[in-house]
Amino acid sequence: MTIHTLFPTQVYVSNLRRAGWLRFNRELLRECQQVRDYDVAGQKWCIENYPGGYTSYGSLCQMHKMSSTFATLETKINRHVKAYVRALELDMTGRELAMTDCWINIMPQHVVHGLHIHPTSTISGTYYVQTPKGCSGLKFEDPRLDRFMAAPPRKADCRPENRPWITVPAEAGNVALFESWIRHEVPINQRRAERISISFNYSWF
Ligand code: NI
Repeated sequence: MTIHTLFPTQVYVSNLRRAGWLRFNRELLRECQQVRDYDVAGQKWCIENYPGGYTSYGSLCQMHKMSSTFATLETKINRHVKAYVRALELDMTGRELAMTDCWINIMPQHVVHGLHIHPTSTISGTYYVQTPKGCSGLKFEDPRLDRFMAAPPRKADCRPENRPWITVPAEAGNVALFESWIRHEVPINQRRAERISISFNYSWF
């Protein structure tokens, strides 16, 4: 018997925890908090679009062009994007993937970031700066879900590849990459401490 696994959805997770990482991460954390404190336009944007939390998505969405620390982060992430592209076997001959957006997300307790995709991008991802123990991860939805209308439910303990939702844990120092069309969300942060991450998009056009 042969079972072919076809059309896989591939999500990449690795970490940036090399020598000097703690110091680098501390600097990122400091800058995230600093930007949140002075970005009045962003704070206003969040009242409507990110209730209870802060994101620089609507105001300062190119942090890699504004801060040398974020530019260093971009360099570190580029290496992982290359590895992910190799795994996906994308033909990038004559095409160049580049970081187009990079923004800060700060989620205090009870803040949620509902289901969404990243339109007009190719590869998206998140680097985790501060992840209180037990905070919410990154939840992915099976892109075929709307075709499963009449399908029986999967067993509760079925293998990860057969589950309609998979949550990748958020861990400081980790970077998660996914194709921008995959629907995902960050469930409610139940922890008292702030969950802080930096998200980004790469595009080839
Ligand atoms: Ni997202």
